[in-house]
Amino acid sequence: MGLGTLASRVVKPSSRLLTSRNPRNLLHFRPIFSTTELHNADASAAAQPQADPAPPPPPPRTPLAGARVHFSSPEDAIEVFVDGYPVKVPKGMTVLQACEIAGVDIPRFCYHSRLSIAGNCRMCLVEVEKSPKPVASCAMPALPGMKIKTDTPLAKKAREGVMEFLLMNHPLDCPICDQGGECDLQDQSMAFGSDRGRFTDVKRSVVDKNLGPLVKTVMTRCIQCTRCVRFATEVAGVQDLGMLGRGSGEEIGTYVEKLMTSELSGNVIDICPVGALTSKPFAFKARNWELKGTETIDVTDAVGSNIRIDSRGPEVMRIVPRLNEDINEEWISDKTRFCYDGLKRQRLNDPMIRGADGRFKAVSWRDALALVAEAAHHVKPEEIVGIAGKLSDAESMIALKDLLNRLGSNNVWCEGNGPQPNADLRSGYIMNTGIAGLEKADVFLLIGSQPKVEAAMINARIRKTVRATQAKVGYVGPPTEFNYDHQHLGTGPQTLVDIVEGRHPFGSILKNAKNPAIIVGAGLFERNDKDAIFSVVENIAKQNNVVRPDWNGYNVLLLNASQAAALDLGLVPESVTSIESAKFVYLMGADDVELEKVPKDAFVVYQGHHGDRGVYRANVILPAAAFSEKDGTYENTEGCAQQTLPAVPTVGDARDDWKIIRALSEVAGLQLPYDSLGAIRSRMKNVAPNLLQVDEREEATFSASIKPESTQKMDMADFGSPIENFYMTDSITRASKIMAQCSALLSKNKLLRKDRGYRLQLD
Ligand code: SF4
Ligand code: FES
Repeated sequence: MGLGTLASRVVKPSSRLLTSRNPRNLLHFRPIFSTTELHNADASAAAQPQADPAPPPPPPRTPLAGARVHFSSPEDAIEVFVDGYPVKVPKGMTVLQACEIAGVDIPRFCYHSRLSIAGNCRMCLVEVEKSPKPVASCAMPALPGMKIKTDTPLAKKAREGVMEFLLMNHPLDCPICDQGGECDLQDQSMAFGSDRGRFTDVKRSVVDKNLGPLVKTVMTRCIQCTRCVRFATEVAGVQDLGMLGRGSGEEIGTYVEKLMTSELSGNVIDICPVGALTSKPFAFKARNWELKGTETIDVTDAVGSNIRIDSRGPEVMRIVPRLNEDINEEWISDKTRFCYDGLKRQRLNDPMIRGADGRFKAVSWRDALALVAEAAHHVKPEEIVGIAGKLSDAESMIALKDLLNRLGSNNVWCEGNGPQPNADLRSGYIMNTGIAGLEKADVFLLIGSQPKVEAAMINARIRKTVRATQAKVGYVGPPTEFNYDHQHLGTGPQTLVDIVEGRHPFGSILKNAKNPAIIVGAGLFERNDKDAIFSVVENIAKQNNVVRPDWNGYNVLLLNASQAAALDLGLVPESVTSIESAKFVYLMGADDVELEKVPKDAFVVYQGHHGDRGVYRANVILPAAAFSEKDGTYENTEGCAQQTLPAVPTVGDARDDWKIIRALSEVAGLQLPYDSLGAIRSRMKNVAPNLLQVDEREEATFSASIKPESTQKMDMADFGSPIENFYMTDSITRASKIMAQCSALLSKNKLLRKDRGYRLQLD
C-alpha cells in the first residue's frame, strides 16, 4: 500500500501514532482526519463559498501536551485567532507555538522546542490572513490580532507539496529502516502527504558517515532538517557536525573524517525525525511494537535521569529518555542510554562459596546463607563492617544497616561518601539549588567538580545557562575539558583561601553576582581534610550571599545514585579505620572500596549482580537483582526520591537485595521485622520520610551555615579527578561491551590530543 493511499484514510486512534514508542509522538498526538476534499483543493475551494449559514461556535480546545503558557506580566499577552478560535499567547511566541496552545498540532521536521529555529523544512506551513503565500509557522512571530488558518485547502496543499519534495529523494526503505514505526516522516506523510508523487528521476544517494560506535548513519534518508547539527552545537557543545554542499549535493557531515565526541551524542538518535541517525547497538535487533516499555530511572550517576527501558521477553533491548523538565529535560547521557548490554554480561546467577582450592562452587541459598550467618556470629560485633555499593537502593541500605545493628555493629557506610561522612545537615550533601534551579544562577564556582564526566545532564544545564545568560563560570580543580566558557582559577585549596581572603579577582565577580551558585564535587568527601575545605567553602558562601531566604546556591554534586539516600538513612561508620580491623565484611555491590585494606583472614561476603572487583576477594557470593529487575528507591543529587520498576525478570537465582538480607537475618536468628516491600518502606519512612515522597524534591531544612567552624588543618594538595573514565564507573558499565568501545575511543582521543599538544610544543 502506497503512502498516498494510506494518507487518504482516516487515522484511527488505534493507529501507530497512538501506540508509538516515540515520546515525541505521544506528547504531541492528536487524531488527524483526512477527507477527500482535503486532497482536492480546487473542489473544496469551489464548494465552500455557496453555503453561508451562521458558523457554529468553535469547539473548546486544550493546549497540546507539552505546550505551556507563562505570562510574566498581563501586558505580555497578545490575542491571535487560530482557525477562528481566540487564544492569548505571550509576546514573542511563534505562530507554531500559538497553534499548539490553541490545541492544533502543526506538522514539523526541523522545529524542535529546545533548539534554535532553522525554518528549513517548510513542513509547518500555515495560512495567515493578508499574507500572499503560506508562511513557515515555526519561524514567524505571532502578532496581535493575527488570523491563522491551519486547515484551509491552501495550507494543506502546501504541506502536500513539501512532503512530495521531501519524499522525492528519500529512499522510502521503511521495511528495512530501524526508525520504522516511530518515524516522524512516516507518520506525517500518512497524515499530511499526497497520494501520489511526480518525481520519476533517479534518487540521489549520500555516503554514510562514521560517527563512532553509538550512532549509525544512513545519510541517504536525511531530509536536511539540521536538528542534529543544532543539537551538537547548542546542547552538546561540540562543533562536530555541519551541513556541507548546496542543492542536491547538500549533506550532513563532520567536515573532516572525525567521530562525534560528546557524552550526549546518543540524543541525536531521538531528535532525527527520519531514520538517518539510529542506534548502532540496536540496529536490526527489534521493531518498536515488539517492545514492552517500563518507565523507570537511571542509576549510573547521581542525576536520576528519567528513562524508559524497552524490553523483549527477559532481555533489555534499549534505553530511551523520558521527559522530566526538572531533571534531565528530554536528554540522557550516552552512558545511561547504551550501558544496557552490561546488564546481560558477567552476571552472578547462583549463590557460590569459595572452596579450599580457591574456586567458587554453586550452592543452594540455604547453604550460602547458613555459612554467612555462622561467620557473622563467630566475630566480635566491632569487627563487622558493611559497605553499600554505588548502585544500592534505599530499601537494601536500610535492611543492611538494621541487620548490622542487630549483629551489634554500627560500621556501615556507602562507597563514595568517604571515611568520615557527615550526615548531620542535609544541606551539606545535596544540590540545594535543584537541577532546574541552576538556570537562575549568574555565576558558578565549581570546586573539585567536573560535571562533564560526573553528571553530564547537570553539565548540560550549566551550559544551557551559560549560553542563555552569559553566566560566568570559575573552576578550581585539575585541568579538564569544558564545553562552555570558564576560567580555570586554580588547582587546589589555596585558590579557595585566596578567594575567601579577598586576594583572588574571581572574588569580586562572586560578590557582584545576583544569584551565585557554588558546586562542590563529592570527590572531596574522600579527602582527610574535607571538613576544613567545606568550612572554607561555607565561608565563601557566607561572604557572597550564596544562601539567602530566596536563593540557596550552595550545592554538592554527588557521584553515585546511592549516596544521598545512604546519608539520609544515616549510613555513617562508627570508626574511621573499621575496615582495617574487620573480620567480617559485607559488600553489598561495593566494588570500589579499598579491598587491599581488608585483613587477609577476614570473611568477605559479596552480594551483587556482577562479577566485578568485589568478587575477587569474596568468600561467599550472593546473587542480587540489578536496577532494571527490581522495585527500588533512589534519591538523586538534588534530593528528589524516585523509584525503579522491574522491566525484566531477574537472572538465574538472583533475588532483590533487601530480600536476601531479610532471609539472612532469619537464618542468623535475628529476624528483621519486615517481609514485604510496603513494610520495608514503612521502616524507611521512620528514618527518612522524604524517601517516600516519590518524584518530589525535598529541600533541606537547615542551611550548612549553622555548622560550627572546623578546626581541622587543611592539606594544600591539589584536588583530584574522581572519575577518570566517563564510560566505566560501576559494575554495569564495566561489563558493557559498548562502553568498552567508547572508552577505547576516549583513550585514543586523549593520546591523540597529548600527541598533538606535544607536537605543538615542539613547533
Ligand atoms: S541526519 Fe536526521 S537530524 Fe540530521 S539533518 Fe538529517 S534528518 Fe535532520
Ligand atoms: S518546522 Fe517550520 S520550517 Fe521546518
